[in-house]
Amino acid sequence: MDDLYRDYILEHYRRPHNFGVIESPDLRWEGANPLCGDRITMTLSVRDGHVADVEFTGRGCAISQASASLLTDEIRGKSLDDVARMTPDDVLDLLGIEISPARLKCALLPLDTLSHAMSEGATGTPAGSGVAAADDGPAGDA
Ligand code: FES
Repeated sequence: MDDLYRDYILEHYRRPHNFGVIESPDLRWEGANPLCGDRITMTLSVRDGHVADVEFTGRGCAISQASASLLTDEIRGKSLDDVARMTPDDVLDLLGIEISPARLKCALLPLDTLSHAMSEGATGTPAGSGVAAADDGPAGDA
């Protein structure tokens, strides 16, 4: 049974859904996992208060990529209010496997990036540069 779930995660890792970039997104954010430096960029199109389209790019471990794949599937078509209410537990439910504390940041990187995209990622301003989770970057040092 456990292997089934593992295959499911690996399948999303190998063939992630919604992998790409929206050309002129309404929301965009690049988030980073400060523990490993892996990054994910989310782009979203919004129509009538709903997620009309969502894509992600980036690199990371199987957990982070599968989480992004599952999360982007989940939020497409949802209202921004519903998306804003999503919790880490919702993401862990989507993953459906036991996540060790050490891998929690991997699993939640996509949700964290999405949250920042929604709150601070309106395009027209420079997209985030790893601010989502990184707290170790040099400030003002190019
Ligand atoms: Fe980098 Fe998981 S090891 S996101």
